[in-house]
Amino acid sequence: MSQRSCLSVILAAGEGTRMKSAQPKVLHQIAGLPMVAHVVKAAEAAGASGLALVIGHGADEMRKAAAKFAPKAETFEQEKRLGTAHAVIAARAAISRGYDDVLVMFGDTPLIDADALTVARRRLAEGAAVVVIGFRPPNPAGYGRLIERDGKLTAIREEKDCSEEEKKIGFCNAGMMAVAGAHAMKLLDAVGNENAKGEYYLTDIVEIASAQNLDVVATEASFESALGINNRAELAQAEAIWQQRRRHDAMLSGVTLIAPETVFFSHDTEIGADTIVEPNVWFGPGVRIASGAKIHAFSHVEGATIASNCDVGPFARLRPGADLRNKAKVGNFCEVKQAVIEDGAKVNHLTYIGDARVGAGANIGAGTITCNYDGYSKFFTDIGAGAFIGSNSSLVAPVTIGNGGYIASGSVITESVPDDALAFGRARQKTIPGKGKELRERFASAAAAKKKAAGADH
Ligand code: UD1
Ligand code: MG
Repeated sequence: MSQRSCLSVILAAGEGTRMKSAQPKVLHQIAGLPMVAHVVKAAEAAGASGLALVIGHGADEMRKAAAKFAPKAETFEQEKRLGTAHAVIAARAAISRGYDDVLVMFGDTPLIDADALTVARRRLAEGAAVVVIGFRPPNPAGYGRLIERDGKLTAIREEKDCSEEEKKIGFCNAGMMAVAGAHAMKLLDAVGNENAKGEYYLTDIVEIASAQNLDVVATEASFESALGINNRAELAQAEAIWQQRRRHDAMLSGVTLIAPETVFFSHDTEIGADTIVEPNVWFGPGVRIASGAKIHAFSHVEGATIASNCDVGPFARLRPGADLRNKAKVGNFCEVKQAVIEDGAKVNHLTYIGDARVGAGANIGAGTITCNYDGYSKFFTDIGAGAFIGSNSSLVAPVTIGNGGYIASGSVITESVPDDALAFGRARQKTIPGKGKELRERFASAAAAKKKAAGADH
């Protein structure tokens, strides 16, 4: 089958009014990726080399987004929404190029898995002209019903056009289809709009093809994989299903999730075997974790690279560009942004490291801040290998701390420090013997005098 060429036509022109959003429905995200991009991924995983995206509502925004998530996709604008067949025909130029298989998919059905599409393509390879992906929803109301006779699909009837008898059928149209490229345009052009909604229904090609004695069949996908998103409650439902699948995959690939239901992945999270993730951890986009790392509870990690055997959190925040090398440690209430923490370096408590390099084996004391921003520009802090930064220090960038540099606690460092130097950036301590006692006595007698004066007033 691999040598059969395949075009995926993804319908995404609809308005999605029930999302109550200024944004086109299919750009709402699941696991940090627009739902239509999930559909694109599934199509590609099923072997589609051509991608045609049919857009309409929010066309400009859709084009802009598509350039990012599917740069190879061609977009076709459907000016008026006259039905699903009409939408597919908008991609006529792509279909007419002549693919063996045409997969019609919906942009708002993001959980479709490549397997369901591969099964449908296999039926085309075996000679079917139209393969409809069916499913059995718990409540079939609203879906097109699959009408079968002798193992062949003879029609799909939209709910509004169903007889009472047909409404009892539980096997429904998930919406997606695989059509033999050789027949696709002819079948689509034969669709009319004589139905309850006055629309050109893609589903009509089933009846048209069977009347021509072409082979038309239905395959079955899981309810979850065919879940269509119409509102934000369904969006959250799809997110939950996606997360559940991803957690399961992570665990089977050797990652320990102590409380899997509390760990959230992104569409592109990479996480190596023998990593342990404690409860309540969030992975935003762009995270890569090698093997054997420990991500402690309540950490928020985004755009970060974490090498083998690193230790992160609890309550750590790794932002884009955080790059932790082997055995680095970033502990509680620390934030790291656009910074390399080299091998074995430790940033353990209440610290901000941004636009910086922390050299191998360096130790960053509690409360250290890289002052990287003057309100206009960002500046770099370079901390050498084996440096020791005393607690509660401010490193005012641009500044360099040499290898083995030693910074006294509470310093404000504004000038670079050479290798192995000790730098104080604070006033020297002055100690006056007996002065504490003297002060205490003076304050106590002043307070007593005040109290006495207040009593005399009454
Ligand atoms: C469709 C199917 C129905 C199936 C159901 C599954 C048809 C006629 N009906 O019904 O059998 O059970 O999906 O969810 O196909 N779109 C366009 N342009 C249009 C019309 C639709 O791009 O002119 C897009 C929509 O944005 C959407 C998809 O096509 O992504 C499906 O359209 P929708 O109106 O949701 O079809 P349903 O009535 O749900
Ligand atoms: Mg729908």
